[in-house]
Amino acid sequence: MKVDVAFTPAELTGVGLADRTVVVVDVLRATSTILQALVNGARDVVPAESVEQAVRKREELGKRDVLLCGERDTQPIAGFDLGNSPLEFVRDRVEGETLVMTTTNGTRALLAGAAGAECVVGSFLNAGAVARSLAQAGNDALVLCAGREGRFALEDALCAGLIVRRIMRLRREAPVHVNDAALAATRLASRASRELPDTLLRTAAGKRLEEVGRGDDVAFCATLDRYTEIPRVRERRISL
Ligand code: MLT
Repeated sequence: MKVDVAFTPAELTGVGLADRTVVVVDVLRATSTILQALVNGARDVVPAESVEQAVRKREELGKRDVLLCGERDTQPIAGFDLGNSPLEFVRDRVEGETLVMTTTNGTRALLAGAAGAECVVGSFLNAGAVARSLAQAGNDALVLCAGREGRFALEDALCAGLIVRRIMRLRREAPVHVNDAALAATRLASRASRELPDTLLRTAAGKRLEEVGRGDDVAFCATLDRYTEIPRVRERRISL
């Protein structure tokens, strides 16, 4: 089994995904929020690259049971129904709804990851479940970090490293081949899980969220193995 990590979508250039399982990770906050929304009964999530594309998608789908969600620079988008804080996506608000979502980094990475043989949504909230599922399947995999505006994001690399470490532990009897990014991520993650909330608050994304009064989101997104659900991307829609 081969498990690679890409720290940003740009690292996918020239990398074939058609025979791999892709795990997309955007810890702060897109993939954490998508998991929270689906666990709270949302029907599915439709990722959109831009605000205009999201609005068009909603018109196409009709307004009934369809909500517009997302952020730019961590702030809710004017005229949208919800922002991108996982704490907003409570059952009363999202149950039975289709969520058309656009975010700065996460939804782009999800649309890129959809080229995989299979594409799933990862975060600290379901890291254990994702690792178990990949270890059991044994297919070659790639953990795609959304990053932050095209650059390395520590929170995503830590989550990727944790998932790869757990796969290696679960497949102790069979070798797991990793690329350098995965090796680096496993080393980073080896110490982090003990002080995850604090470490996430010290990342660029964590500091920005704290600045705008969303520190609770960081604490929520830092909770390990809260859920066992694994959202899957099929035909550009994400569901459980
Ligand atoms: C993103 O996709 O860039 C993040 O999820 C942004 C955020 O939630 O603030």
